[in-house]
Amino acid sequence: MIKSDRVYLRLMERKDVPYKVKWVNDPDVRRTLFFQEISELGTEQWLNKVALDSTRKDFIICDLETDNPIGFASVVKIDLMNSKAETYLCIGDKEYWGKGYGTEVKRMLLRYVFIELGLNKVYSYNWVENKRMIEINKKLGFTLEGQLRKDIFANGEYKDRVIFSMLKEEYLKLIND
Ligand SMILES: CC(C)(COP(=O)(O)OP(=O)(O)OC[C@H]1O[C@@H](n2cnc3c(N)ncnc32)[C@H](O)[C@@H]1OP(=O)(O)O)[C@@H](O)C(=O)NCCC(=O)NCCS
Repeated sequence: MIKSDRVYLRLMERKDVPYKVKWVNDPDVRRTLFFQEISELGTEQWLNKVALDSTRKDFIICDLETDNPIGFASVVKIDLMNSKAETYLCIGDKEYWGKGYGTEVKRMLLRYVFIELGLNKVYSYNWVENKRMIEINKKLGFTLEGQLRKDIFANGEYKDRVIFSMLKEEYLKLIND
């Protein structure tokens, strides 16, 4: 379990599937995700598969005080050869938006990847219009690597994505300064 001031991350279990389905199928939440609409059956099958996959860790985000799930976060494409991984996160409970939870969780993912997994690079993609996520990345010291033009077809249009990254040496400098 990974703990912070207000939340903790634990590995996603079958009991969490209905939460993930509810959040992803909420149009306000899905608008800034790269997800299609999902079903409970498909999500259970997905979870059975990814639970055995050593190249990823799929977490549920819980409120430390109430134990209630508020979102999910994943470290994927764990690449030991090149010592890097991709992260994404979703604060699914909209009551928790705009209160610093996204920032807190992203910080936890950084600690997990750099300190616990000992990898050298973290990167993440988001839609160019996802101003909140861009703000979080900038605030935490990520570097914008570039903009991928008309990269994904979603909601009837080709959309641009941006890719942000951080290196372990940058992370260590930030936490030690
Ligand atoms: C994107 C998401 C993670 C943000 O989480 P959050 O908990 O609301 O974000 P935080 O409160 O930690 O920080 C948001 C920052 O964006 C800023 N912000 C909000 N709206 C903004 C806007 N329109 N333009 C610029 N900055 C904005 C906030 O001021 C805040 O910065 P601050 O703390 O310096 O004031 C959350 O809304 C979410 O999960 N959305 C659905 C899924 C998603 O988009 N996931 C990311 C894809 S990888």
